[in-house]
Amino acid sequence: APPTTTPRPRAVITAGPTREALDPVRYLSNHSSGKMGYALAATAVEAGFDTTLISGPVNLATPPGVTRLDVESALEMHEQALRLAPKAALFIGCAAVADYRAEHAAEHKLKKVDEGDTLTLTLTKNPDIIAAVAALEPGERPFVVGFAAETRDVSRYATDKLARKNLDLVVANDVARQGLGFGSDDNAAMLFWRTPAGIESLDAKAQPKRALARLIIDHALSLTVNPDGA
Ligand code: PMT
Repeated sequence: APPTTTPRPRAVITAGPTREALDPVRYLSNHSSGKMGYALAATAVEAGFDTTLISGPVNLATPPGVTRLDVESALEMHEQALRLAPKAALFIGCAAVADYRAEHAAEHKLKKVDEGDTLTLTLTKNPDIIAAVAALEPGERPFVVGFAAETRDVSRYATDKLARKNLDLVVANDVARQGLGFGSDDNAAMLFWRTPAGIESLDAKAQPKRALARLIIDHALSLTVNPDGA
């Protein structure tokens, strides 16, 4: 008989920025390089996950063993995330998803007009990808890890996200700190999760993104094996 292998649990990770088109040549975006999300994907493979990376536009090589799906906009990332998340054991939303997109992306390049010195753009809200994943039905819902990128009151906003988006673990990074967060090789974060006794936290000091990724995935694994976090 052919050898039987148990299928590996699946991890789905979003990374990088999204690009929201204004017209065929211009977009709204942010400074996410994808480094943190790619470090998580490489680490998930090491931890034994069948790993899919849903990636916004970045200049990084795909880590060995990772299946990579390239997307541009938040709407595309949302579609792929909701297609893949129901089969996953672990979902990590590390992408810096644009909260808004242009209400109407222009079909042709926007022209500069002579009258007036201002141009008004109307933006409309993008769907919240991680909240949609966290709202999946019990049987379909992976363990959901979200990030919180804040520039102040990090723990207050992070614990609010934990509750409001119904996440299992929040990784809060202070993106105003020099040399950490967006684009850098190192990062520091506070981890927040719920226990029957209330919200617990762990302070992960500045370290290479790859080391922080290991800490996050090990922590997520310890919480899925021992959901009370005791
Ligand atoms: O890519 P790097 O240069 O390595 O930088 C890493 C990082 C700073 C981008 C990363 O560590 C990080 O903090 N990512 C989340 C950035 C972010 O958009 O945070 P937020 O606080 O706006 O969003 C909170 C959570 O909701 C995140 O998990 C985000 O992926 C998710 N989200 C947000 C909006 C939206 N429409 N859909 C979402 O799923």
